Amino acid sequence: MNEHPVLLPYTDPAFAADPFPFYRRLRDDGPVRRAVIAGGLEAWLVTRYEDGLAALSDPRLSSDVRDASDPRLLERLPATERESMLRTMLRCDPPDHTRLRRLVSKAFTARRVAELRPRIQEITDQLLDEVVPAGKADLIEDFALPLPVTVIGELLGVPATDRHDFQRWTDDMILQGAEPPDPARIDRAWQQMRSYLTGLLENKRAHPGNDLLSALITTRDEEHRLDEDELIAMAFLLLVAGYITTVNLIGTGIAHLLAHPDQLHQLRDDPGLLPAAIEEFLRYDGPVNPGIARFAREDVTIAGVSIPRGATVLVASAIADRDPAQFPDPDRLDITRQDNAHLAFGHGIHYCLGAPLARLEGQIAIGTALRRLPHLSLAVPPDALRWRSGGLRGPEQLPVTFTP
Ligand code: HEM
Repeated sequence: MNEHPVLLPYTDPAFAADPFPFYRRLRDDGPVRRAVIAGGLEAWLVTRYEDGLAALSDPRLSSDVRDASDPRLLERLPATERESMLRTMLRCDPPDHTRLRRLVSKAFTARRVAELRPRIQEITDQLLDEVVPAGKADLIEDFALPLPVTVIGELLGVPATDRHDFQRWTDDMILQGAEPPDPARIDRAWQQMRSYLTGLLENKRAHPGNDLLSALITTRDEEHRLDEDELIAMAFLLLVAGYITTVNLIGTGIAHLLAHPDQLHQLRDDPGLLPAAIEEFLRYDGPVNPGIARFAREDVTIAGVSIPRGATVLVASAIADRDPAQFPDPDRLDITRQDNAHLAFGHGIHYCLGAPLARLEGQIAIGTALRRLPHLSLAVPPDALRWRSGGLRGPEQLPVTFTP
């Protein structure tokens, strides 16, 4: 066991472009490594699949930041978030977690989500209608981003016209990536997001619509199953979780297909492979990178390594998903891969609530793009693509050309 924490070099462009060689060495070094992660925080990185799977269903590992001993974790959070925005299902444990998740889980079942297919297809086609005549596009800005934003916006009842505002706040709050955090800017963004959501919810109280937030307001006001802060936090979580990762699934998937023409042709020839291809993009290079944080509620031992109470345990799903003990030939992108039980959506009670929606959006987006954009290719050399790094991963832009 190495004594010194290893530094994850987020600001190194080569690491941002391809962190996997670094991750492989880390995993080969041992199953649990102390590391300095984004924001200078220290965590114990769990790098192997089997240990990651066990850790994600271990009740001694909490999702509640208040169980962390590093006071910076809470202090770094702006006052607004500490007070209210933290009160989401993602950041709490049972029984609160169970109660909050139950309030919305019915809206995200595979069956309910399947009903959205025609509308998702329609939005996808409308976005592509806009870019097709030009023969070139930035598939992030023009496609991979607006698609999930529009879908989750319609589901929740958040006007699409507001999307530039909340995208900007989310960028400031969460997606600062490798840059050193600017507390004043982060706090301002949280406050703006909170006051936006408060106004939106007030508006819906007065004029309820046929959407999930209006339904939640009824749950709050008539059944008292969540309080006002929890309602705002829920709106925030669903809105943001609903798109920041899916944009990366679509962008990363297309980027890797362009870098692997054999796989691209195979998928074009046989669209029946789309579901398996989506699982493979999630395994090979999932949006959550390096992984999922937990906090040790008591001293724990993982793979023979003692981890003290209060420590941050980072289940490095992105590293575990290339563990050769679980996935044969793990560094190979193979859209026909079977038994692909990756950890990109987590595992256990916090398993991604939006997984069926993300999968469906990914399949429709990538399938339709391949069908409607013939001779699709990158407009820049692959190594000119810039990748987000430091918590979430995906190409920042995806300039492409195709035959109009
Ligand atoms: C939870 C990944 C899309 C809503 C999670 C977790 C992961 C994840 C890893 C578990 C976090 C943890 O255990 O602490 C992803 C990826 C996505 C995606 C990779 C896209 C490819 C979505 C979408 C929604 C969503 C479209 C729609 C609302 C949620 C919610 C949780 C969650 C509400 C919290 C569940 C809980 O705490 O019980 N997601 N997600 N996600 N995700 Fe997603």
